[in-house]
Amino acid sequence: MSMQRKLIAVPGFLALAAAAAMLSAYAGASSSERNSPVQPIAFPHTVHAGTLKMNCVYCHFAATKSPDPGLPSMSTCMGCHTVIATSKPEIQKLAGFWSKGQPVPWVRIHKLPEYVHFPHMRHVNAGVTCQTCHGDVQNMKQVSQASSLNMGWCVNCHVGRSNPPFKARYDCATCHY
Ligand code: HEC
Ligand code: HEC
Ligand code: HEC
Ligand code: HEC
Ligand code: HEC
Repeated sequence: MSMQRKLIAVPGFLALAAAAAMLSAYAGASSSERNSPVQPIAFPHTVHAGTLKMNCVYCHFAATKSPDPGLPSMSTCMGCHTVIATSKPEIQKLAGFWSKGQPVPWVRIHKLPEYVHFPHMRHVNAGVTCQTCHGDVQNMKQVSQASSLNMGWCVNCHVGRSNPPFKARYDCATCHY
């Protein structure tokens, strides 16, 4: 395609994308912005990622490797909490799950519909920071979804508009197949 035709094609795409974003907002497809469920254990990112300055991928190590990172395993926590703050009620809850061999039933916050292809690790490995998409999690007493996760949000970055110099393919089949 010539450069000129490419430029003509983009506004048409954006109109389609806007229409689809409206349609999916109506259908309530993705988890919504500011979604912030109460968790079974009041886990403070402010302490771990804030005060202690732990690296996000210390706990979320799958974020760089997996299309769908999941949540930290119990053993990641118990490396410290078999000795740290063991008398605190929230840590006793944690130890309760651990001794019964049960995972903590964390409530998932960010969720795309199944028909969307989102390789999580490709984004992290391209150098997009966690905060670009998830906001300043290190300052959140309770995690809250910072972005809409709708199609317009994805496409605006892929066309190189919202977070230059980041850009990526944006034909429909990139994210839908
Ligand atoms: C960069 C990724 C990306 C690209 C490229 C993309 N989409 Fe989407 N699309 C999404 C996401 C994410 C959603 C669902 C989230 C939302 O908007 O709620 C979605 C939702 C939709 C929906 C709404 C479905 C529903 O039931 O609500 C339609 C229709 C759609 N896309 C069509 C298209 C078409 C047509 C194209 C090409 C012009 C396209 N998409 C390109 C990411 C993308
Ligand atoms: C000590 C381990 C630990 C560290 C360090 C940590 N997290 Fe978490 N993270 C968790 C746990 C446990 C949960 C599930 C409970 C919750 O939502 O608070 C979680 C939840 C999340 C979620 C919500 C997941 C969902 O369900 O959608 C995001 C996003 C997130 N963390 C991002 C980050 C970022 C960004 C950093 C670095 C600034 C970070 N985390 C550092 C343990 C950690
Ligand atoms: C390009 C945007 C983007 C970047 C960058 C990003 N995430 Fe995500 N993250 C998402 C989206 C979108 C989802 C929901 C994915 C889904 O439902 O398939 C998600 C989901 C998650 C989840 C929940 C996964 C689950 O299975 O419950 C965690 C935890 C998480 N991200 C942590 C991180 C951490 C830590 C970083 C940085 C190392 C990071 N993310 C970088 C967009 C991003
Ligand atoms: C590197 C060590 C380390 C790891 C790993 C770690 N924590 Fe912590 N955690 C701490 C420290 C230090 C504190 C602050 C203790 C204090 O204030 O006395 C803390 C505090 C907490 C608190 C707050 C306790 C309270 O009520 O004041 C909770 C809840 C907690 N951690 C849960 C977790 C969970 C869940 C994980 C695993 C996802 C985890 N921690 C992983 C070191 C760690
Ligand atoms: C802040 C910018 C940003 C946002 C937001 C973003 N992406 Fe991406 N995405 C990228 C970059 C950069 C790459 C290229 C990574 C690479 O080169 O490996 C990429 C790559 C991809 C790929 C792989 C494309 C290929 O060439 O195979 C898919 C699929 C994808 N993103 C889907 C999505 C979906 C779906 C969303 C929204 C839920 C989204 N992205 C949101 C920046 C973003």
